[in-house]
Amino acid sequence: KQISGQRVFDLVLKRGTTSFFEGVQTPTIGINQSYLGPTLQMHRGDRVRMLVKNELGEHATLHWHGFELPASADGGPHQTIAPGASWSAAFEVRQRASLYWCHSHALRRSGPQVYAGLAAPIYVRDEEEDALGLPSEYGVDDIPLVVQDRTFASDGSLVYSSNMQNGMMGMIGDVLLVNGTHEPVFEARSNKLRLRLLNGSNARFYEFAFRNGQTFDLIASDGGLLKRPFRASRVRLAPGERAQIVIDLVDDRPIDLVADSVSNMGMMGGGRMMGMGGIMRGQRGDALRADQFAVLSIVPAEDRRKGEPLPSELTSFAAPDPALAVATRRFVLGMGMGMMSGFTINGRSMNMARIDERVPIGQWEIWEVENASMMAHPFHIHNAQFRILDRGGRAPPPLETGFKDTVVVNPGETVRLLLRFEQNTDPELPYMYHCHILEHEDAGMMGQFVVT
Ligand code: C2O
Ligand code: CU
Ligand code: CU
Repeated sequence: KQISGQRVFDLVLKRGTTSFFEGVQTPTIGINQSYLGPTLQMHRGDRVRMLVKNELGEHATLHWHGFELPASADGGPHQTIAPGASWSAAFEVRQRASLYWCHSHALRRSGPQVYAGLAAPIYVRDEEEDALGLPSEYGVDDIPLVVQDRTFASDGSLVYSSNMQNGMMGMIGDVLLVNGTHEPVFEARSNKLRLRLLNGSNARFYEFAFRNGQTFDLIASDGGLLKRPFRASRVRLAPGERAQIVIDLVDDRPIDLVADSVSNMGMMGGGRMMGMGGIMRGQRGDALRADQFAVLSIVPAEDRRKGEPLPSELTSFAAPDPALAVATRRFVLGMGMGMMSGFTINGRSMNMARIDERVPIGQWEIWEVENASMMAHPFHIHNAQFRILDRGGRAPPPLETGFKDTVVVNPGETVRLLLRFEQNTDPELPYMYHCHILEHEDAGMMGQFVVT
């Protein structure tokens, strides 16, 4: 709905029950529905007003991940919505067309609230992208895939445990849900499909691929289109990261998108996590490996549209130039011993009353993020889409050549980011930067910055 030039989204955070498996009811939370929320559709340049009512019976927030907006509209831990209360956030949609998302950012409660369902995908479209003729019919040839691992108890309830393993690794589940559905099947009515992948898991890293080895085109990262399509056969995403791929159906045979679980323990050299994903069955009863999950089974419909070939160029933007930067900040991610005190950035755990960084508006900066721990961490910055200068001194791979808001930093590695905050100063109200493994964020691997 429209009120005085603003598009208004009425969102209610509420509890409900969801039937993920036949005959089983699972208590969940969602946005306007029982689990997750509907895809929120926006256009660049829209002025939006998000009205959020909290009917959860506990404190919550709703954060707009990937958006550049005033700190008061960010939906981070400083914008807590009390039980029964409402909160409204107004902002102009400034970023490029892409897949963004919203989720709980409640202090020390992001993990359990997102796990229970408090998240939703957000589509931003813009004229530049509209003109390209990419597959864009929502639900037909343009499909969001919110990928989340969950563990169910025998009574059907979700298990969120904070034992030692999950405390260190983050909450790892053994069942994969995609848009809240277990092993979904999609009937394709076009030979060209655009899949928008969001790793909405609390902690698990995945590598996505087609089971038949088929290649696809990588077209967008977190913050929008890449310069051109990149041919790939696998794409790896850590929690919070997104990627868009375009796949061609070449004949009438079904194809399966699967996800390998990727270890985020650097000591094991990126090997697979063993024994953590129970044996899953594909659509035709053939077993996947124990460390592999079914994501989407694509069944070509008899009658399909052909689909336009992808343009050879998608967009243009300058290469990130480190010479622009007039300041360098350093962030060292640490995991000491002791569950609640060990998760730090620059040796300190999150403190709501402490501003860690003051960043002048409009100033180009290099943020050097070093991982001094033994696990990979997806580092996320609010209110920005940044560029990756280098990773361990080497040029970034294709998916990291565009705009990003979340970047994996491997153990022992330093990743250099180029960024600037273009608007929205507030000397008091901070934005966050943090690890997007939600249990790490909740345990304190988060800091605060203001833009002045
Ligand atoms: Cu997606 Cu600060 O979060
Ligand atoms: Cu965010
Ligand atoms: Cu982490």
